This record gives sequence, structure tokens and C-alpha cells, in this order.
Amino acid sequence: MALLKIAKLGNPLLRERAREVRPGELAEASTQRLIDDLIETMRDANGVGIAAPQVHVGLRIAVAELRGDNPRYPEAPKVPLIVFVNPEVHVSGDAQEEGWEGCLSVDNLRGLVPRFSHLRMRYLDREGNERELEAEGFFARIIQHELDHLNGRLFIDRADTTSLAHEREWQRLLQR
Ligand code: NI
Repeated sequence: MALLKIAKLGNPLLRERAREVRPGELAEASTQRLIDDLIETMRDANGVGIAAPQVHVGLRIAVAELRGDNPRYPEAPKVPLIVFVNPEVHVSGDAQEEGWEGCLSVDNLRGLVPRFSHLRMRYLDREGNERELEAEGFFARIIQHELDHLNGRLFIDRADTTSLAHEREWQRLLQR
């Protein structure tokens, strides 16, 4: 496994739509290695999710996980490791909620982003099995954030720009 270099804001790759993983391509050693490396890179950077375009690969693959000891998201609920390939997301209902987001491609910045509260996602797991899940709250937020990456969008596109805060100031805001 290897730590991958993370593309930062301004890199045109972050603004492109990633392409579907083709049948057969998922089982290839290079794709499986990419998934392992995404997981390792996410954990190393204390991320709660990362998408392939963030490591300069234009494929519709993302991973997410939130362990209890993540210093970047001390308040958030735990999310077990999930690898999702070629996701299709359908929101359930109109309910939205605002919540704080950051991104490994956007250093030091946090912002309040409205997201749908409930969704269903169909996707392939890393073995190529078709799966479906329902998500709400913070988990639904992570999925929408990563799906945006696959479509060339970043959280700052959707954030209330008056809420944008440097991480250091944001920590102070939270303590008020
Ligand atoms: Ni991100």
C-alpha cells in the first residue's frame, strides 16, 4: 500500500466528471491497489472520505470511514469503512440540513453546507457485488460530498460563503 498525493483546489482534475468503472476493470490488480491506497491515504490524512479524482484518477470510486478517534471530526458519529463504485444516489424526500464540511483537497477551510438528510445509494462494492443502502445525517452528508467529487464539484460550491472559516477559527467557533 502507498500514500497517494492529494490534488488540491485549482487542480483541473477536481473539476472533471469521473467515468464509470467498466465491468472487469474493478477486479484488476491496479484498481484493487488504488482502493487500498485510497483507504490508507484517507486514514493517514484523518479524512472521513476520499474520491479517486482527489488522487488524480478519474474513476467513479470513493471510500468513506469515520472512526471514533478522528481529530478532524471529534463530534461526528462513527461510520464503518465503505468502498463505493459507480454510485447512484436518490434522495428520499425534500428534507435538508446544514452541517460543517471540510475537504482534503481544500486545506484548512470549513464551511456550512446544506445537504439532503436522507438518501438511498446503489453501488458496487470492491468485489463487484451490487449493493444498496440507506443513509441519513452525517453519513448521508459524506456520501453527497464524495458523489460531488465524482461529478467535479467541491463543497465550497455549495457552502454558505459567509460561513467559510479557517480550521483554527472554526475550532474556536465550536467551543463557543
Ligand atoms: Ni472532499
